[in-house]
Amino acid sequence: MHPSYTFLNEMVGFIFHNTTTMPLFLLFTMFSMPIMILLDDEKCDIINKSWQCLPPAATPQTVRLYPQNTTSVSERSCHMSSQYGKKIKISIFGQSHSPAIGVSIDGLPAGINIDFDFLNAFMKRRAPGNDDISTQRSENDIPEILSGLVGGKTCGAPLAMIIRNADARSADYSDIRDVPRPSHADYTAHIKYGGHQDTAGGGHFSGRLTAPLCAAGAICLQILNGIGIDICAHISQIGNVFDNKLDLANVGAADFIAIRKNKLPVISQESGEAMRSRIISASDNGDSVGGVVECAAIGLPAGIGDPMFDGMENRIAGIIFGIPGAKGIDFGSGFGGAALSGSENNDSIYMDGSNIMTRTNNSGGILGGITNGMPIVFRVAFKPTPSISIEQRSVSLARAENATLRIKGRHDPCIVPRAVPCVEAAAAIALYDAL
Ligand SMILES: Cc1cc2nc3c(=O)[nH]c(=O)nc-3n(C[C@H](O)[C@H](O)[C@H](O)COP(=O)(O)O)c2cc1C
Repeated sequence: MHPSYTFLNEMVGFIFHNTTTMPLFLLFTMFSMPIMILLDDEKCDIINKSWQCLPPAATPQTVRLYPQNTTSVSERSCHMSSQYGKKIKISIFGQSHSPAIGVSIDGLPAGINIDFDFLNAFMKRRAPGNDDISTQRSENDIPEILSGLVGGKTCGAPLAMIIRNADARSADYSDIRDVPRPSHADYTAHIKYGGHQDTAGGGHFSGRLTAPLCAAGAICLQILNGIGIDICAHISQIGNVFDNKLDLANVGAADFIAIRKNKLPVISQESGEAMRSRIISASDNGDSVGGVVECAAIGLPAGIGDPMFDGMENRIAGIIFGIPGAKGIDFGSGFGGAALSGSENNDSIYMDGSNIMTRTNNSGGILGGITNGMPIVFRVAFKPTPSISIEQRSVSLARAENATLRIKGRHDPCIVPRAVPCVEAAAAIALYDAL
């Protein structure tokens, strides 16, 4: 039923039990019907929900602790929404320790052959427990298709996949229900969801939710590969250890092949070894380390994207910040370009046979939000993993007093190596969605 009718039904019920309000009803109908007809489903849904859905009440402790939030806590939206896309709509669900996590992809055309070897190999690159520099949680992360596939091909119905959580240890997270981890989402989730959020393993805020993101991304990447577009990322920095940079204007298939050959996705193997040592030393000290992922997309035609709010930078950044731990993004010469003069930063244009190219690519393949046919190149900064085993200072939400916290459980000493396929997946979804 159109949501506007839910609202109208309630009004009509009230009117017919109160005959004195009949003239008022006629007036109301005259003025509101055109508005109701003009409202689309989404807006009506918001109206209906704002009448019906009250967020869970904040605990008294929350009120005492955070007076700046108390007036608005019951007025704020109280649901989690993890959706992205226009042409396709991906919706990610589940928590780190729920029976499964998953994704539904709406809008895929019928007749696409899904290559499961490609999908599973992509998933394996992100899966935990692969080596000594990632969390020792052991998950095989093989997606199970629930719907949308007939005889190995998409059938046009939403493609739904789940990935089972097999190795959860929820007891490790009992302390953080009361004492939020510094720089994780425990405190903000507690405020927003009134303490009803699932804290086990970070709940819906866990890096584990990037598994379904990678599943959706791998499918988009397969489709993109079929039309000559490819995406590859490498670790460009861990702490103060740097890899070689991609050549912004000339990055191509040969670079991708070289990066993909290495167990740790880097250009220079020597840098890769130094990065591995840096991560192991952080882990040995009960600490963590951050870094940067550099990503390139090649084979895109010129003319994709829109100005202002729907540009390719906006679309890519929007989904990249869906990867937990991502804290910054820049395109082309990015923040480095701020130190250059126009004559240094401008990408001069030339004819390459019948193709229009630029000699440099400080724009990162995007001008005015629209692709110019050069490689799209961007970098994503990831913070150090917040869950470290060194004792940290926090607060007890129940006692409203300062407290210390020693985090138990299995954590990545560095998010970056496992974030590399997540960045590629996010870029694949953004690009496919924009085509
Ligand atoms: C692949 C991946 C693995 C992650 N592993 C951990 C982890 O083991 N421990 C942890 O505290 N955070 C981990 N994170 C980061 C947190 O989920 C993230 O910092 C937290 O949700 C807060 O979000 P924000 O940093 O984007 O603000 C991981 C993120 C990714 C992408």
